[in-house]
Amino acid sequence: MMRHLLRDDDLNPDEQRQVLELAWRMKEDRFGRHPLAGPRSVAVIFDKPTLRTQLSFTLGVVELGGYPMVVDGNLAQIGVRESIADTARVLGRQVAAIVWRTYDQSRIQEMADRAGVPVVNALTDQFHPCQVLADLLTVAEQHDGVDALPGLTLGYLGDGANNMAHSYLLGAATAGMHVRIGTPADRQPDPGILADARRIAAATGGSVLVTDDPAAAVAGADVVATDTWVSMGDSRAAEEAEALFGRFRLDAARLAGAAEHAVVLHCLPAYRGKEITDEVIEGPRSVVFAEAENRLHAQKAVLTWLLERAGEPV
Ligand code: NVA
Repeated sequence: MMRHLLRDDDLNPDEQRQVLELAWRMKEDRFGRHPLAGPRSVAVIFDKPTLRTQLSFTLGVVELGGYPMVVDGNLAQIGVRESIADTARVLGRQVAAIVWRTYDQSRIQEMADRAGVPVVNALTDQFHPCQVLADLLTVAEQHDGVDALPGLTLGYLGDGANNMAHSYLLGAATAGMHVRIGTPADRQPDPGILADARRIAAATGGSVLVTDDPAAAVAGADVVATDTWVSMGDSRAAEEAEALFGRFRLDAARLAGAAEHAVVLHCLPAYRGKEITDEVIEGPRSVVFAEAENRLHAQKAVLTWLLERAGEPV
């Protein structure tokens, strides 16, 4: 069966660990593997704005020996000018893999169902699995290895119903971590995703907590993460976001409640003075730029791992 990375729990705990260890090795030997030599091509499609994701996937495909075919979703108009199913079959006959940043998860699911090549989620409204793999790699580096992830606590503050919250729930639970989501009562995670995270955590020794108390979300945490209060495609006004999420701002006082060795993650772009203060993101606990670099290594590992399973010459 063709494997894809559409949501974080498409990788079981063993597989996630394989990908993270591969990412670690590929970071140490950055130009040493060329599974896309030929070059084979990867379509990298953006229906939403991007900087890190376009950069890291484009460079990553080149470093793997391939050719990145970057497609502007505004020109392609997938699902408008041409159906997703037809687009998938056109792409699948010409490229080795498809990377797509789009809106609803159902769109990327349909692409994967019809493409015949591996499909990677480069962010949807519901999930951002490549980011969470990069985040897990970043945390593992702070603790000298992927083995250290099980049992660590990650506290997330902000929008509990966005892609990052959902991906932390599934991805960190898969890693055997304790995931705490600090979010207001009316921005609770999707109940189905939350149930999946709880089921995964029960099997991996992790745990899941959703709370509207930001102090409880962060207390003693090894990792503290946040994200924009207004995600791409969300039309919420700045004043409304402040009223809803202001209590969940990651500032120095809030961070003081985490473990002394805690590191701070933010997927970027960051809105300083909103979800995170300048002092925290520029402070000694912040690893956000290592995290941004790790997108490259994590995604190269994802592509390599998926191509191996798709029977590509690696
Ligand atoms: N939740 C944010 C993540 C950006 C990388 C968004 O979807 O805009």
